[in-house]
Amino acid sequence: MCGIIGILERKNVAPMIRKSLKRLEYRGYDSVGVCTVHEGKLHIKKDKGKIDEIHARLNLDDLPGSVGIGHTRWATHGAPSQVNAHPHTDCSGTLALVHNGIIENFQELKNKLISRGHVFKSNTDTEVLVHLIEEEYKEGVPLEEAVRKAFQHVEGSYAVAVVSTKEPEKIVCVRKESPLVLGIGDGALYCASDIPAFLEYTRKAIILQDHDLAVLTRDGFRILSLKTGEPVEREVVTIDWTAEMASKGGYPHFMLKEIHEQPYALADTLRGREFYIGLISWLIENSKKVFLVAAGTSYHACLAGAYMLSRLAGVATIPVIASEFCEKYGDSVDSDTLVLAVSQSGETADTLNAVRYARKRGAKIASITNTLGSSITRYSQVYVLTQAGPEIGVAATKTFTTQLATFALISLKLAENLGNSAFDLRAIREELKAIPSLCEEVIRINEPRAQQLAKRYSTYENFYFLGRGISVATALEGALKLKEISYIHAEGYPAGESKHGPIALIQDNFPCVFVAPNDVTHPKIIGNIMEMKARGAKVISVIEEGDREVEELSNDTFIIPKGVSEVLTPILFVVPLQLFAYYCAVERGADPDKPRNLAKSVTVQ
Ligand code: AGP
Repeated sequence: MCGIIGILERKNVAPMIRKSLKRLEYRGYDSVGVCTVHEGKLHIKKDKGKIDEIHARLNLDDLPGSVGIGHTRWATHGAPSQVNAHPHTDCSGTLALVHNGIIENFQELKNKLISRGHVFKSNTDTEVLVHLIEEEYKEGVPLEEAVRKAFQHVEGSYAVAVVSTKEPEKIVCVRKESPLVLGIGDGALYCASDIPAFLEYTRKAIILQDHDLAVLTRDGFRILSLKTGEPVEREVVTIDWTAEMASKGGYPHFMLKEIHEQPYALADTLRGREFYIGLISWLIENSKKVFLVAAGTSYHACLAGAYMLSRLAGVATIPVIASEFCEKYGDSVDSDTLVLAVSQSGETADTLNAVRYARKRGAKIASITNTLGSSITRYSQVYVLTQAGPEIGVAATKTFTTQLATFALISLKLAENLGNSAFDLRAIREELKAIPSLCEEVIRINEPRAQQLAKRYSTYENFYFLGRGISVATALEGALKLKEISYIHAEGYPAGESKHGPIALIQDNFPCVFVAPNDVTHPKIIGNIMEMKARGAKVISVIEEGDREVEELSNDTFIIPKGVSEVLTPILFVVPLQLFAYYCAVERGADPDKPRNLAKSVTVQ
């Protein structure tokens, strides 16, 4: 995820900006840039690479001036490169801007700006912002007003900081759906994506809200409404976190932070990219065989994805564990085959191996990944980026739910194209829009329960996670989360299959977690719960609000808001299981961010 910093000081800011960017490194990035304003000019250094390496090459500290902005870029639109690195400048070289977020309507804005004579240097969505401000920045208009007017045309998420040579002692910043905080120092002001960026300089901060516009000058700061331009009041808070806590946004672990980021990650994933979603659904429609290939959590997303494609669009696809693909299906791969590979990192060796193999045999390759510029994107004819931002905890959380959201978009598109779905597709699209806020509610309702239940159950050594239909994917993912970070043995199974062997292990107090949405599988899963209960199992279930039947059969429950369509249930039902796994690991004294023997990206076969 991109990181931004702006500093208005009484001394040279370039070395301070570099240090602040170092403190934002944990957010993940591929490019770096710094801009200062001095003697009527913008002074910019930027490139692809790591801060220390770029600093060693370019010396980021020798830019002159006491006002400046900096940026670490995590590519979304346009590959990591020098031209795509921020800051971006307008045509006249008056304005420089840094941005974190996604501009949904950038193409439409870009076309208009080009027709008005603007010349673009990069492939980013961000660059439209600086040209839009240029359009409004006429004689006599203060920078903040030009910014305010420009953002009336912008759709999407943004945290932005802008400087101008015409008003060299001013930084203007705006925020919507991307984090932005102000730091209030002694004769100095800061704006940043996150508090650690300025924690060394001040502990007084203001957390800006959506649609806030802040003006930082030598005389102090003002916060205005981006919509109306009227002043707004925001509270100054004193931060008592350590630097380490601050880099995790105040959370004790990255995994917990990333679980909490899911509503934003989902909202970002659900906006835009329709063109690529359309291409992938077209490829599915026009291929005789479609394999969904992935490892670990991404494989679980494929299991749910296959279900969505089948239920919504009536299209059968084959989910395959990547390391099994060549042996199991290799001989059947040909030019009528599509391999849709799913990988958060885009670097998993097993998945890449399957992809390379399929390419050699003439198959088409598409992918869903969270990492622009990763190997998988280079092997793919078309790819869709999930917009989860960097995931630092080894356990995949927000990347799983955003993969599911992407599969939902592809399935809906395909079903709409085929035109023979038994479902009300429009209603499901509407529901999908509400998923980010429902996810927030799921976290709010279930986090205290997860804490409580972790205290009660974290001493158990074995668990089953059971589900039917699409919830098999959720159950498998719940089991994987628990086992990989808390080291409790946990097995996920289709609930119907449990009586064909696994049930032999059930005796008094054996914990069984049932994923039990109110979908077509509900009557049958009640039977499965009873079978387990009759043999003494402790039943923990994830149920919809008001599901008295399953609640009465359960020792403990996690509750999900009512009425979510079957195909979307995994996105919400997995969240309490992520929280449960996290709190069990904490109870057992394990570090959830760095489970033993595991790496974030598994680059060996
Ligand atoms: C899950 O928590 C793990 N981190 C792991 O199973 C992971 O999903 C798997 O290694 C695949 O990684 P990828 O999505 O980067 O390809």
